[in-house]
Amino acid sequence: MPAIQMLGITKRFDPVLANDHVDFSLEPGEIHALLGENGAGKTTLMRILYGLYHADEGEILVDGQLAHITSPKEAITLGIGMVAQHFTLVPSLSVAENVVLGYTRGLGFDPLAAQQNVAEAAARFGIKTDPAALVRHLSVGERQRIEILKALYRNARVLIMDEPTSVLVPQEVNVLFETLERLRAAGLSVIFISHKLNEVMAVCDRITVLRQGRVVGTVDKTETSQAELACMMVGRETFGVVRHGEHPQGQVRLRLDHLNALDNKGLPALKQVSLEVQAGEILCIAGVSGNGQAELARVLAGTLKPAEGRILVEDQDLTGSDPSRFLAAGVGRIPEERHEGTIGELSVAENMVLERLDDFTRNGLLDRNLIRRHGEQLIAEYQIKAQPTDRMRTLSGGNIQKVVLARALSGKPRFLVASQPTRGLDVGATEYVRSKLLEQRDQGVAVLLISEDLDEVLALADRIAVIYEGRIVGVIPTQEASLEQLGLMMSGACPQGAARGGNS
Ligand SMILES: Nc1ncnc2c1ncn2[C@@H]1O[C@H](COP(=O)(O)OP(=O)(O)OP(=O)(O)O)[C@@H](O)[C@H]1O
Ligand SMILES: [Mg+2]
Repeated sequence: MPAIQMLGITKRFDPVLANDHVDFSLEPGEIHALLGENGAGKTTLMRILYGLYHADEGEILVDGQLAHITSPKEAITLGIGMVAQHFTLVPSLSVAENVVLGYTRGLGFDPLAAQQNVAEAAARFGIKTDPAALVRHLSVGERQRIEILKALYRNARVLIMDEPTSVLVPQEVNVLFETLERLRAAGLSVIFISHKLNEVMAVCDRITVLRQGRVVGTVDKTETSQAELACMMVGRETFGVVRHGEHPQGQVRLRLDHLNALDNKGLPALKQVSLEVQAGEILCIAGVSGNGQAELARVLAGTLKPAEGRILVEDQDLTGSDPSRFLAAGVGRIPEERHEGTIGELSVAENMVLERLDDFTRNGLLDRNLIRRHGEQLIAEYQIKAQPTDRMRTLSGGNIQKVVLARALSGKPRFLVASQPTRGLDVGATEYVRSKLLEQRDQGVAVLLISEDLDEVLALADRIAVIYEGRIVGVIPTQEASLEQLGLMMSGACPQGAARGGNS
């Protein structure tokens, strides 16, 4: 008997039909992937299963019994847990406190007993954690493990994971997959959402593909291929981005001169970083996350002031300037965290002009018609699934990213900083964003691309700068780069790379 059956689930957000008579079933001891383009309805379907949304039509059976799940509390009682993309842990509490929070029997709270219970639960599923540690001190991967543990502690038999790997570095992805395999061996079921087909093929048993709210099909891992899955998702074959020939490069648009910067904790995050980006080239910053990339992006947005060194954009010295001066100097940005830089309660059209309000002001008043027309135009050009008047918070993750991209490019930047621009995007949208970045380069924009995805780096970069522990350990032309060499440099294990950087 299936652990979960969803039958004829329909959910409408006028005018969007987010789920259209969806049938979905999950076996005990199965890892089942949910695939589909941005906006296909994956998150909506899972929020219905977890009681966060209510279906307009359809039924849910849990272990063969009809269930009316109207809140997460009921879902948990039925053994359904969810690990959300944005974690819900309390940073100032310990791991054990977070896990048992809201799930203590009796009146008193006994921290030692809680720690012991949590340690036992962690050991049972082979999840490495220190119950006494404060959540505030944990990495993203560790926090995710605590979210999983929290669900298991509440006796979840079914675990919903919505794009769990999009926040993880590759090593952590492997740890997560080991955990999922242990859960499967223990007879639990997992619903796994990801846009990365290689991950889906590595860890899942079956795959259900959604397109425009409908089920395209459910296939066995052993009977399908990445190409077939991509085709099912987008309804056509995908081709990958076409890379044009090498380009004669133009003048230097950005120069970083021995830049030092501190992170949030006051520790050195960028150490003596010197770089030049030329018009008409894509310079990629490759590295494992947490090696200074976030600080570099913030320095180039004007939201983090460098402790030492200089930032020159064309002939202007922007060292220590605020974000508005960076924008005025022609610096466009696609921030890593999509929710940063967008305002959920404002409309899509309003979000598209947030960085250039002056251009949309007439006689001291915002020109609403102009903002709306501008929004309509960008929505059409970037194929965004939304109306200009929709609240930003109602958009799917991929469509939010497209809004951010459209906004950055419509400002006609001369220098563009793109941080992880395809994270969380489906195959089609990834192709689209990559081709847009190449188009910008061809038009003479200087592009600094920060990416942890080596396939992306090799597909787009003209030159690759590897960052490790805040230092640029080497800059190499893409034709001369290999995966092995980049991997070694990224792990700090390449003395040759270090020598080339000349910074240490
Ligand atoms: N609360 C809401 N209000 C209005 N519309 C919504 C709401 N939630 C989702 N939608 C719409 O429903 C559709 C499906 O969205 P959903 O978030 O389920 O997609 P998804 O498959 O998870 O996409 P992604 O891969 O980008 O995360 C989208 O068109 C989205 O804009
Ligand atoms: Mg989603």
